[in-house]
Amino acid sequence: MSTSWLKDAVFYEIYPQSYYDTNCDGIGDFNGIIEKLDYIKSLGCNALWINPCFDSPFKDAGYDVRDYKKVAPRYGTNNDLYRLFGEAHRRGIRVLLDLVPGHTSEEHEWFRMSQKAERNEYSDRFIWTDFCFAGAKGLGFIGGESERNGTYILNFFKCQPALNYGFLHPTEPWQLGTDHPAAIATREAMKDVMRFWMDHGCDGFRVDMAASLVKFDDEKKSGTSAIWRNIREMMDAEYPSAALVAEWSDPPLALRAGYHMDFYLNHPGGGYASLMRDYVKPDNSEGKDNSYFLKDSDHDMSRFLEEYLRWYEDTKDIGYISMLTCNHDTVRPRFNMTPEELKICYAFLFTMPGVPFLYYGDEIGMRYLDLPTKEGGYYRTGSRTPMQWDHTRNLGFSGGCPDALYLPVDPAEDAPTVEAQESDPDSLLNFVRSVLALRHAEEDLQADAPFEVISAEKGKPFVYRRGALVLSVNPSGTGAEVAVPEGKECVKFLHGSGEVRNGKLCIGPQSFVVLG
Ligand code: NOJ
Repeated sequence: MSTSWLKDAVFYEIYPQSYYDTNCDGIGDFNGIIEKLDYIKSLGCNALWINPCFDSPFKDAGYDVRDYKKVAPRYGTNNDLYRLFGEAHRRGIRVLLDLVPGHTSEEHEWFRMSQKAERNEYSDRFIWTDFCFAGAKGLGFIGGESERNGTYILNFFKCQPALNYGFLHPTEPWQLGTDHPAAIATREAMKDVMRFWMDHGCDGFRVDMAASLVKFDDEKKSGTSAIWRNIREMMDAEYPSAALVAEWSDPPLALRAGYHMDFYLNHPGGGYASLMRDYVKPDNSEGKDNSYFLKDSDHDMSRFLEEYLRWYEDTKDIGYISMLTCNHDTVRPRFNMTPEELKICYAFLFTMPGVPFLYYGDEIGMRYLDLPTKEGGYYRTGSRTPMQWDHTRNLGFSGGCPDALYLPVDPAEDAPTVEAQESDPDSLLNFVRSVLALRHAEEDLQADAPFEVISAEKGKPFVYRRGALVLSVNPSGTGAEVAVPEGKECVKFLHGSGEVRNGKLCIGPQSFVVLG
């Protein structure tokens, strides 16, 4: 048993609130996910990442965990989740849960205990200063809410007190070192949570804010990395086939810290953002969209390649970079791209090295909706709306009353649905299926096969090699000719048009070609 299953893994991210509601209460549930496993399998996805589904006051959509070992009743029971693991495994699908190790909810029992004036087992589980008016330089903190004489440090929103993994170089008496027994107890408590779920059949974790554990950890994250390496040792010894994917977006650090995979996230101005969401500029202002996959952009891959190749060359032998269509924190790609643009974009994402992630609904090009915030979502809420299955009530998401839905469904008359796209051979849904089928059929398109840039001239189709295959994407509205290596004449997959003549690939507008 090992994590070799990652070589051909394709993940599907599910925001459980919004996937499928089987008890008509307006919110998705585990039984709904179970009912849709065959659909997920039909896409070519063989692994799931489920966003936090644990007991929570839901001030940050469940990233504020109140009880790590109990599921939120709105999704079902622990037994329903165990059944989901079993049903997924029966279909060859692995399931990763979302681990939130950096903070809990302010309603977690550990935190309640740590707020008490009298010292107890949990007094040092969170980071507290030693005086009610003293904050922590450089870190957000809250005072005045507990009987304890101190303020506590936040890891994200106000509802998310930071768990205490120690400080790399303590400078105040209240700062513990990373080797302090209380800091080690926090790490061990998190391992206990992981063991609990893996013993019940879970296949690993997506790890929230993986880089956030040790404070003032500016020395290449050495303190935080040491914790993850310790946790990875436990996994290798006790759960060798379980996998970890980091929300870190620094593969050289994350993969050396013991992660199997690290997400390439959307940071304005960053390489991945230049491909898909270039309308947000590095200073977070909005400007002209020059995303690579738009039909009318400059088609300049350089910002992406500069970052990606550096990371890829550095990490290709130690773990995987995960490319994603979107996630629950990012504006859906259909916001700025047409379905035709999405096809070329997904063809590229799903033929890159590493382990790709498809966000639920992106396979049908669900839109980003302009909605008021829900459960701490803010702008992210528009990417978290119910899955659109068919044209029945609530687009098939729920039999409940439309007013009671967790979030409204897309009101547009032409809201994309699975049902409508199933029967259309040219649909985005069927395109996703065919590219993923190709990936599963060709080892050279999976996680490990080498990647090499053949040509990446601005304004010209991008040509790249995966193992023995040569691929080209042309996102532009005009056809072009590009040189391809000798002997690569046979078209193995084609979207749009493309053929090799005299050592040149003539590729049509908005086309994708695989040559073997
Ligand atoms: C990252 C998660 O993806 C996001 O949704 C959440 O709000 C923060 N971490 C805090 O846990």
